[in-house]
Amino acid sequence: MTQPEKPVATRLSLSQRPRRNRKSDWARRLVRETTLDASDLIWPLFVIEGEGRRDAIASMPGVFRYSIDQATQAVAQAAALGLPAVALFPNIDPGLRDEAARAALDPDNLVCRACRAIKASVPDIGLITDVALDPYTSHGHDGLLVGEEIVNDATVAVLTRQAVIQAQAGADVIAPSDMMDGRIGAIRAALDAEGFENVQIMSYAAKYASAFYGPFRDAIGTNKTLKGDKRTYQMDPANTDEALREVALDLEQGADMVMVKPGMPYLDIVRRVADAFHAPTFAYQVSGEYAMLTAAAQNGWLDGERAMMESLLAFKRAGAAGVLTYFAVQAAEILRRE
Ligand code: PBG
Repeated sequence: MTQPEKPVATRLSLSQRPRRNRKSDWARRLVRETTLDASDLIWPLFVIEGEGRRDAIASMPGVFRYSIDQATQAVAQAAALGLPAVALFPNIDPGLRDEAARAALDPDNLVCRACRAIKASVPDIGLITDVALDPYTSHGHDGLLVGEEIVNDATVAVLTRQAVIQAQAGADVIAPSDMMDGRIGAIRAALDAEGFENVQIMSYAAKYASAFYGPFRDAIGTNKTLKGDKRTYQMDPANTDEALREVALDLEQGADMVMVKPGMPYLDIVRRVADAFHAPTFAYQVSGEYAMLTAAAQNGWLDGERAMMESLLAFKRAGAAGVLTYFAVQAAEILRRE
């Protein structure tokens, strides 16, 4: 094939040609502002009763619910890949769910047993547990339902005890995802009173009432049971100043790290929070985001690997210290290969 001739045109007289810094791989690497590392990634994983179980989740291809033995193996692999922490979410036997979320306070519940097993065999990875009642309530809400209302203060009392039993089971980081008012201060006080002053709190400080949580509710089995929605406690997606007020409150009450959730549609919030507080700020790339990217990749509509890595880098660029992502293991494998 004959090469087309280089088009001749008047040469522009430019002192700045930004393309010079993009002319080759080494030149791009030299001026790169943001990097992604396995240490930036937290892997959320689902646990379920049983043994030898690795149940697929239809709306999250490639994500599984693990029985404790399988979860322990998976976490060992995550640690070997350099992931700093995992976050556990239980799928509780429907027969154990009730109005009062009693199973949340059982020191032998699924999450507590998973914590003990993982701590015993993979001591060098951070273990994050979710404080909220939705896996345990018959109605799928994060708090106690009295009439039509999710009652705040009575819920906080339960969350506080839930946090303590998780710390007793070996959790390194307590992550309240419930959005009740005042829970961070109450949990901090209870942990300290029980001698857990070194257990950290990562608060879901700016958590929005989002449609992107759908597949997660499949994973923990609350999709069918959830009555109504969570708009009286999770934030209105229209708001941004309110996120700063929520983060300020959680930091005042003792949060060590704060989180914005969901992730990609809320990068503006990540940036504002990071700039305003200079506290470790995390983003949660939630189940719906995982589902969208994975579905498009499976259809051949996106280069899945590139889109995944780009999405994760975007969180770092927006100012996040790290990302909770269902892609954590896949991404860490790619980072290791590179
Ligand atoms: C509930 C909780 C949710 C998620 C984490 N914790 C869902 C909800 O608020 O209904 C969502 C995570 C995801 O979608 O990946 N405490």
